[in-house]
Amino acid sequence: MQGARVILACRNVAKAEEAVEEIKTTPPTKPNRAQFNGDPGELAVCHLDLCNLASVRKCAQILNDTEANIHILINNAGVMMCPYAKTDDGYETQFQSNHLGHFLFTLLLLPKIIKSTPARIINVSSLAHVFGDINFDDINSERSYSARTAYAQSKLANVLFTKELARRLEEVKIEGITTYSLHPGVIATDLGRHFSKTMFPGARFGFENLLAPFIKTPELGAQTTIHCATDKKAGTETGLYYKECGITSSSSASNNIEKARRLWDVSVKLIGAEPKNDLNELLASLVPTK
Ligand SMILES: NC(=O)c1ccc[n+]([C@@H]2O[C@H](COP(=O)([O-])OP(=O)(O)OC[C@H]3O[C@@H](n4cnc5c(N)ncnc54)[C@H](OP(=O)(O)O)[C@@H]3O)[C@@H](O)[C@H]2O)c1
Repeated sequence: MQGARVILACRNVAKAEEAVEEIKTTPPTKPNRAQFNGDPGELAVCHLDLCNLASVRKCAQILNDTEANIHILINNAGVMMCPYAKTDDGYETQFQSNHLGHFLFTLLLLPKIIKSTPARIINVSSLAHVFGDINFDDINSERSYSARTAYAQSKLANVLFTKELARRLEEVKIEGITTYSLHPGVIATDLGRHFSKTMFPGARFGFENLLAPFIKTPELGAQTTIHCATDKKAGTETGLYYKECGITSSSSASNNIEKARRLWDVSVKLIGAEPKNDLNELLASLVPTK
């Protein structure tokens, strides 16, 4: 994977450009330093706000128009336990930013990914998915909202989407694309930024201190994602759930095929498309042919 062209699709372009500078100037710590060898590859930034489906379409179109191939798609961005809010499209924030935005982005890029095989699609989920279910009667938490339940629902959606995408690719005999969902571990990031608003005052500080001995650095927290993206043996696996750089079991709800199919069809409707049994037909209806 050394020398790869990496596109950071982010809502805050200035922050993404700062990250690019940091990647270029800061070598990784051991044991990855030797591989880095002073070559960060090619880095580019593209604006993407997952809470705005028009922005998702625009970013996907730019990538489809400018990139010859897409070999690896990592759907990593997410928000945890934010106060209740609706997105520009009228959906609950965690459901759209953690699931629906990635769902649309992936489907729009899929024709290019299909042309780029072998290719991998990685959805960063969480152990929190085990506490989740998909509330089909109130998927946008309009009748009642729990920040924790909505986060767990969105992370379960990541695992269900990963499995359903693997099944649908297999159904239409598209080979060479493998899908992955994962728990990255508990990591020192900004994910807890809303805790003190939706749990109790001081919750973020309290949790970060309580969990400090068990918290991974961002570099260590990226390892399972990197494993799914690059490991040779993982390249022969699809639709599975990982933690600590290995396959592990996911919740029984995440293995419910009916639930996965239903979430897929509901998500298709929410992105403004018509559900189709055949993946190729669905993709053709989403991406106008030139
Ligand atoms: N940290 C953990 O302990 C942990 C545990 C389990 C799972 N995870 C998962 O790991 C993933 C990464 O989270 P993290 O820990 O790195 O949290 P983080 O530091 O808060 O990073 C999340 C990133 O997602 C971006 N983002 C949020 N909403 C977005 C939107 N609407 N459009 C585009 N980008 C958006 C944020 O952008 P801004 O920088 O502009 O805010 C930020 O760069 C998430 O999917 C999370 O669920 C994390």
